[in-house]
Amino acid sequence: QVPAAATISTLGQYDGQSVTLHGWLYNSRESGKLIFPIFRDGTGTVQGVAHVKSVSPEVFDTLKNLTQESSVIVTGKVRADKRAPGGYELDIENVQVIQRVPESDPYPITPKEHGVDFLMERRHLWIRSPRQSAILRIRAEIMRAAAEYFDSNGFVRTDPPILTPAACEGTSTLFPVDYFGDPAFLTQSGQLYIESTALALGKVYSFGPTFRAEKSKTRRHLTEFWMVEPEVAFMDLDGLMTLAENYISHIVQSVLKNRRSELEVIGRDIARLEAITPPFPRLRYDEAAKMLQQAHADGHLENPFEYGNDFGSPDETWLTQQFEKPVMVHRYPAAVKAFYMEPDPQDPTYALCVDVLAPEGYGEVIGGSQRVASYELLKSRIESHDLPLESFQWYLDLRRYGSVPHSGFGMGIERVVAWICGLDHVRETIPFARTLHRIYP
Ligand code: 4AD
Ligand code: MG
Repeated sequence: QVPAAATISTLGQYDGQSVTLHGWLYNSRESGKLIFPIFRDGTGTVQGVAHVKSVSPEVFDTLKNLTQESSVIVTGKVRADKRAPGGYELDIENVQVIQRVPESDPYPITPKEHGVDFLMERRHLWIRSPRQSAILRIRAEIMRAAAEYFDSNGFVRTDPPILTPAACEGTSTLFPVDYFGDPAFLTQSGQLYIESTALALGKVYSFGPTFRAEKSKTRRHLTEFWMVEPEVAFMDLDGLMTLAENYISHIVQSVLKNRRSELEVIGRDIARLEAITPPFPRLRYDEAAKMLQQAHADGHLENPFEYGNDFGSPDETWLTQQFEKPVMVHRYPAAVKAFYMEPDPQDPTYALCVDVLAPEGYGEVIGGSQRVASYELLKSRIESHDLPLESFQWYLDLRRYGSVPHSGFGMGIERVVAWICGLDHVRETIPFARTLHRIYP
């Protein structure tokens, strides 16, 4: 009988049978007459066992001399073992080497500790490690669930352009491009475009890469990141907050359901994620500001929080540590927020906006708002923000022809991956991170 071609993640279906695995040697250990090679195949790792007497001398010799990351096709019998990670071991029968990594040029990333710069310089190889592979699998599930929620709730995906003539989120973080002699920019957000598709289709979303020339070096900022943005005609700020809490909960629960073993590989505290269900606490900016001032008075925060400012990173970190769930901070002072945000009719010095801050110190994962509906107000905002009025004529058309209250938000995928995986830095949340000082590999 020909052994079944299996993957490591599905070995449980083959207990007691011979299978063939296609993969790489991750690590190996020898003990007298026994060799314990660990293989990986992209779906997981499994330890093999070969005794000098259980395999042919050639196979034993090949295994003994196999180098890390050599590519192989291995045949062996699956055996349940409670102590083994994943629950199974492989009693090796045969091994075929596809490419043997030579001793003269060994695989550079050994199982010992390496510095982050060393690893980022070799990101194309680092992603092979069980931990990095698990993170990328979780990222893919987050993106799948992020699209699934909208696709199954009546939203239409409408992709905005990446090459754009004007700023959406302020002019200081634009990446310029030469567009046949005219200046253009890489998009910072698809929002302005999906406002128009929302007024055409009702409920829409976009999902794609966005770019910001962030000069600051922080653990939360990339220069190229993926954003998913819903926009809904006739939705107000309250409706938007309900959408946000249901949305985030769906994503977290999907990861728990479909990527539990990967969460275990990276050692994530799963109980913290299980708590993420609607509703989330809603906090006015003013209430959050009072909490921060009190925290400073009590010695929990080094710097005093100045009322009227946006929250700094330490403020956000402290604030989110006070809640088990993401906290939705709404109605910031209009002065610190974007030109397109609708003022609060109760007090127009506040904006009808919301930031969703993830717990455990992760901070802002979503930023959104109700949008200015009035033509006159939007025009004066564009002027007072020194934005080029010509470039925004089409956007003003949305207020000339059938303007309605509408709302939307943007969620940064990498921030969400960092939080769900419990990572210190966004550089590990995307296959190839782009930051102030890195564009290689
Ligand atoms: O809060 P932001 O700037 O909001 C917007 O761009 C709106 N136009 C979105 C909308 O309403 N449709 O960005 C939205 C989210 C942030 O909450 C954060 O998660 C992420 O995008 N983000 C970044 N992620 C990684 N690196 C950066 N430099 C980011 N800047 C924003
Ligand atoms: Mg924001």
